[in-house]
Amino acid sequence: MPAPLIKPLLIDRFGRTVDYVRISITDRCDFRCVYCMSEEMTFLPREQILSLEEIFLLAQCFTELGVGKIRITGGEPLIRRGALELLHNIGHLPLLDELVMTTNGSQLSNCAEQLKLAQVSRLNISLDTLKADKFKQLTRTGDLAVVLKGIESAIKTGFKRIKLNAVILKNRNDNEVVDLVNFALNSGIDISFIEEMPLGVISSHDRAEAYYSSDEIKADLDAYFKLEKIQETTAGPSDYYRVSGTDTKVGFISPHSHNFCSTCNRVRLTVEGRLLLCLGNEHSIDLKSVMRNSENNTDLIKQAIIESMMIKPEKHEFNLKEQPLIMRHMSSTGG
Ligand code: 5AD
Ligand code: SF4
Repeated sequence: MPAPLIKPLLIDRFGRTVDYVRISITDRCDFRCVYCMSEEMTFLPREQILSLEEIFLLAQCFTELGVGKIRITGGEPLIRRGALELLHNIGHLPLLDELVMTTNGSQLSNCAEQLKLAQVSRLNISLDTLKADKFKQLTRTGDLAVVLKGIESAIKTGFKRIKLNAVILKNRNDNEVVDLVNFALNSGIDISFIEEMPLGVISSHDRAEAYYSSDEIKADLDAYFKLEKIQETTAGPSDYYRVSGTDTKVGFISPHSHNFCSTCNRVRLTVEGRLLLCLGNEHSIDLKSVMRNSENNTDLIKQAIIESMMIKPEKHEFNLKEQPLIMRHMSSTGG
């Protein structure tokens, strides 16, 4: 009888197993959300970004190192030409357990069905407001009606799970948290509220002034809903509640008010081929160089990934009052 296949594991110095990789496949986006980008953005030239083939090869290497879950992010992943084919190829990697994606929803009404065929099982869709004018203000270039249509298509297509992500800013959309939960309830989907993180320099607002904590949001919601705490078994940054008597879960992602680093199970691959070991630190390795200097030698690539575990930082420190330490925007990091 052949010996059972034992998956090798990526384990860091603090004993955390990394089994989840988020891959940004483009830094470009059709929106310019105020907390994510400045109005004028310079995007990366083509030769600096990984090709679709390179991204696929890295995804394959990760799965062979025990990574079971991959999230495709951006920018907006669906605006990269060839994204659907790439998703399909990654989704059919034999060692992958789960392919998920984060999107702003702008392209969803055209391709929800194809995403499902690509084996994408769960979608996170960004939605910060249900008011068309506010949506335009927050995204600068987005159209709420298009995104709502995209969400509707995704729901009709039937994914294992659809979750809305809402970044809440004081005096901008903090008065909509109840409406957003009601929208999730009526749609039969989940929602997470995210505290803004100081990633990249932005021009539109003072982040410290706009800070609206998860605890404030939770208090606002408690006045309208009965939220029951869920003991999640998965390692993740979200604190989850169920709206009593429904299937809808409400999550809180609180990088400022609750530190979740001790259970961190993830790393991020930027579209430039940098493997970031922590969202709130610059520790990284340059996988693109390893690939391009070795003619895609997968043994060397995997060795570099294993060694990178030694520089995964213990935790992040964010300070909203100072200039961001982290100069990269979420769009190049991969939400
Ligand atoms: N802080 C918190 N969330 C952010 N996002 C983008 N930039 C930031 C930031 N600076 C969110 C998007 C999306 C998710 C991938 O990340 O709204 O929902
Ligand atoms: Fe695009 Fe998402 Fe950034 Fe908004 S938050 S600009 S949708 S990448």
